[in-house]
Amino acid sequence: MENSKVLVWDVPTRIFHWLLALSFAGAFLTAELERYRDVHVMLGYTVLGLVAFRLLWGLIGTRYARFWSFAYGPSSVLRYIKSLFTRAPQHHVGHNPAGSWAIYALLVLSLLAGASGYAAYNDIGGHWMEDAHEAMANTLLAVVFVHIAGALVSSLLHRENLLRSMITGYKSGKAGSGIRHRHRLIGAALVAAVAAFWIAGPDSLPTSWNPLVHASATKEPSSGRSHD
Ligand code: HEM
Ligand code: HEM
Repeated sequence: MENSKVLVWDVPTRIFHWLLALSFAGAFLTAELERYRDVHVMLGYTVLGLVAFRLLWGLIGTRYARFWSFAYGPSSVLRYIKSLFTRAPQHHVGHNPAGSWAIYALLVLSLLAGASGYAAYNDIGGHWMEDAHEAMANTLLAVVFVHIAGALVSSLLHRENLLRSMITGYKSGKAGSGIRHRHRLIGAALVAAVAAFWIAGPDSLPTSWNPLVHASATKEPSSGRSHD
C-alpha cells in the first residue's frame, strides 16, 4: 500500500528547483530591457550555476534525485501515458517517466540558453547567436509551460499535490521507501553560494563574463583613461 508519507526530495533538490524557477523567471522578465542587461546576465549565470550543481547532485545526491532513478526509455513513457487513461494510473514515488523527459529537456535547454547568452554577449557568432539565444530561451519557456501543466494534470490524476511536495519534500509511498537524509547543510551551502555571488556582484567575474565591463566598453569605446 502506498499510503505512508515518505520523504522523497532532499533539501538541495527543493532549493535548486525554486531558485531555478525564480532565476529563469527573472532572466525572462529582464531580457528585453537594455537597462537591466547586467541583472539579466547575472540571473542567466545563476541559472547556469544552479544547473551545474544539479548535474553533480544527479550523480551523488539522494535516491530520487539521482539521474539513474528517473532514466526512462520511450516505451516506459508511453506505458505511463497510457496508464493515465485507465482506472489505475501508474504512481511513481520519484519523478514519473513523462515528467522525467520534461526535466531532462529543462536542464539541457537551460544550459543552451545560458551558453548561447554568454556567446551572444561576447559577440561570438554575431546576429545568428542572438537569434539562437532568443530561440533557446523561448523553447525553454514553452517546455516550462508543458512542465507546469504536466505537474498540474499529474497532481489531479493522482490526487496528490506535487507542488506542495516540491516544497515539503514529502509524497505518498510505501513505508520505508523514503530517503533518510535531508542534506540541510548542502542546501544551506547552495543558498550561501548564490547569495555570495549576488553580494560580490559582477566584479567577482572574469572580464569576459562581467556585464559592467561590457557596459563601460560600449559607453566609452575609445576612452583610454578612467575618470574615477
Ligand atoms: C511556478 C512554476 C513551477 C511549478 C509549479 C513547478 C512544479 C514542479 C514540480 C511539482 C516538480 C516535481 C515533479 C515531480 O513530482 O516529478 C518540479 C520539478 C522540476 N522542475 Fe518545476 N515547476 C515550476 C517552474 C519550473 C521552472 C521555471 C523550471 C526551469 C526553468 C523548472 C524545472 C524543474 C526541474 C529541473 C525539475 C526536476 C527537479 C529535480 O529533480 O531537480 N520548474 N517542478
Ligand atoms: C538561462 C537563462 C536566460 C534566459 C531565459 C534568457 C532569455 C533571453 C531572451 C528571451 C532574450 C531576448 C530579448 C529580446 O527579445 O530582445 C535575451 C537576450 C539577451 N540575453 Fe539572455 N537569457 C538567459 C541567459 C543569458 C546569459 C547567461 C547571458 C550573458 C552572459 C545573456 C545575455 C543576453 C544578451 C546580451 C541579450 C541581447 C541579445 C540581442 O542583442 O539580441 N542571457 N535573453
